[in-house]
Formats: sequence, structure tokens, C-alpha cells
Amino acid sequence: MTKLVVATSNPGKLREMQAYLKDTDWELQLKPEELEIEETGETFTENACLKASEVAKATGEWALADDSGLQVYALNGSPGVYSARYGTSDSDRIARLLRELGSEVNRKAQFVCVVAIASPDGNIAIQAEGLCPGEILHAPRGDGGFGYDPIFYVPEKQLTFAEMTPDVKKSVSHRGKAFAALLPQLSNLQFKISNGEVSLQNPQ
Ligand code: IMP
Repeated sequence: MTKLVVATSNPGKLREMQAYLKDTDWELQLKPEELEIEETGETFTENACLKASEVAKATGEWALADDSGLQVYALNGSPGVYSARYGTSDSDRIARLLRELGSEVNRKAQFVCVVAIASPDGNIAIQAEGLCPGEILHAPRGDGGFGYDPIFYVPEKQLTFAEMTPDVKKSVSHRGKAFAALLPQLSNLQFKISNGEVSLQNPQ
């Protein structure tokens, strides 16, 4: 197994990512608790790359980071990279979004997830993106999931994220699609590491 340090201190997120990578030779590990990285980027890609690169350099290991959020068309893409900072709790964030959208007829939105992997010297080796198009409902529906799940409706499934089983959500979600796009690149990287074409450790 090859170690991959994940830029999160959330064991739940780590378990979800390990499930996406279950048929690979990569073993995920939480980043050191004391290592805090501020998300200063203006895009999901900038933030994912920044976090992967900083964790790789600090630990001297291969590192993985993701950044995700919700973009609402009628709000010019907000909350976007500020999705987590849009309020102090999930219900607060949902209430603010519904208030700002008001009676707007265009409810189109998308969830975005970018995943990046950095080599031990901090260079980005792999990037993948996943998108999930949907609509913002006028009121929450469903008890599952987290974050904005109860107000995010996916027409393809005729369900909100909060009404889906974890497997259904995985099959349509931005995160599921980003990890699906990452997998072939990861096995290519694993092949190069096994062949000695790229190093497991930072040479410095
Ligand atoms: P991150 O942990 O910096 O990627 O924060 C992403 C934020 O976007 C989370 O705190 C949620 O508010 C929101 N978010 C991302 N993915 C989802 C999802 O699948 N469902 C609901 N909310 C999500």
C-alpha cells in the first residue's frame, strides 16, 4: 500500500474518500492535527492545489486534498468557495441562501468538487473535477446527508441529495464524479511509482 496524506482532520471525510479508492493500492491517512491551511484561493482548483501542496511539503509524503461547494446561477455563482463560510451552521447557511434567492424563478445551481494530489516536493501531480447540476428548492426536503443537501434537487433522480441513499448520491454527486475521474490517473501514478519513474519520498 502507498500512503496518501489527506488534507483533512475529519475522519468521516477520510472514510468517504477511502471508500471511493477501495480497489486501489492507496492507503489514506489524516493530516497532522496541528497543521492548519487557510483556504485563501478564489477558485476550487486553487484551494485544492494549495491544500494538497502544503500538506505534502509539511509531511514529506504524497498528499490529497479536495475543495467543493455550491454555485447558484442567479447569485452569480455564490456561495461558491465560501459555501462552508456562508453561515455558522447548516440551517443558517440554507436559510441565508433561500433568503437571498427569494422568489427568483431561475433556481439552477451546481455542486463542484476538485481533487488534487501533490508529490512530496509540493508539485501537483494530478487534478480532477466533478460537477453535479441541479436546482434549489423553495424549502428543505429529506433528512439525510449534510450541508445544503436538503435544498439541492437533482432532476435526473427526482430527489434532493438529502433524500438519496449514500450509493445513489455517490453515483451522481460532484465528489463521486471527481473521484471517478481521479481513479485512472491514480493507477497510472501508482504504476510509475512501482516502476521507479517517480519517487515516493521528497529527495531533499
Ligand atoms: P470544503 O470542506 O471546504 O470542501 O467545504 C465545502 C462546503 O460546501 C461544505 O461545508 C458544504 O457546506 C458544501 N458542500 C460540499 N459538498 C456538499 C454536498 O455534497 N452536500 C451538501 N453540501 C456540500
